[in-house]
Amino acid sequence: MKVTVVGAGAVGASCAEYIAIRNFASEVVILDIKEGFAEGKAMDLMQTASLLKFDTKITGVTNDYSKTANSDVCVITSGIPRKPGMTREELIGINAGIVKMVSSSLLEHSPNTIFIIVSNPMDTMAYLVHKTLGIAKNRIIGMGGALDSARFKYRLAEALGAPISDIDGMVIGGHSDKGMIPLTRLATRNSVNVTEFLSEERLEKVAADTKVGGATLTGLLGTSAWYAPGAAVSGMVHAIASDAQKMFPVSTLLEGEYDLQDISIGVPVILGKNGIEKIVKIQLTQAEKDKMQESAAAVKKTNGLLDL
Ligand code: LAC
Repeated sequence: MKVTVVGAGAVGASCAEYIAIRNFASEVVILDIKEGFAEGKAMDLMQTASLLKFDTKITGVTNDYSKTANSDVCVITSGIPRKPGMTREELIGINAGIVKMVSSSLLEHSPNTIFIIVSNPMDTMAYLVHKTLGIAKNRIIGMGGALDSARFKYRLAEALGAPISDIDGMVIGGHSDKGMIPLTRLATRNSVNVTEFLSEERLEKVAADTKVGGATLTGLLGTSAWYAPGAAVSGMVHAIASDAQKMFPVSTLLEGEYDLQDISIGVPVILGKNGIEKIVKIQLTQAEKDKMQESAAAVKKTNGLLDL
């Protein structure tokens, strides 16, 4: 499998690193517009290969899309990250133009590729790629839910004083501070609902901390996080490479599912060799449905700022 990662910043480099480390891809190409930057990151990563024992070949290129030709999966992380105090939505002005140009250039050289969109505001950027490229919806996957769910599990484990491997849980809805919907009702510790162990107030705090997971890190780091975003992308690429038929919450174009139309937003899907193999419809409570509608309204408002 050949994977291209556009953007050699912290998130892009982390994606490349975590993909390579799992040793399932033959090739990872990192592309950046800054002269020599992707080449440098690729060389540094390649010098970890003998130490970490992977054979994935990582190369870096400066804006040369011909080197990305015939990629099976293309990950778009390009654009500016948010700074402390900024929302993901505030990035739209700059990132929309970049994502539009990058996705078109990638498709030109890899006409059958599957896209994973990481750039923010992610749900709107995934929608923009749909509108720009007009390719089958199974080939455009927004990365948000897998990351937000990992942050949810981290917060649940913390609240329970439990190892993270005991925890399962999922976040749906928009990838934004207000729009995320951590499904506390369905989260479990070793198949027992966490509602058995945690009070409603404690679960509300877990959900609130999860929703501002990215903002908390931006405040601490001065820029947006990269390890967990990279690991989330690597898990999704691995599921595609191995045709795993694994369930992930991702941002996908909805056409009536969850009572939503013409929007890309986080819902559970099955990932396999075709990208999104199917959208999983789960029964939500009325309160969760209301939150989903509210989250979708905010994403649509941001989509309205696009110059389509
Ligand atoms: C975050 C960015 C990737 O949540 O959206 O860290």
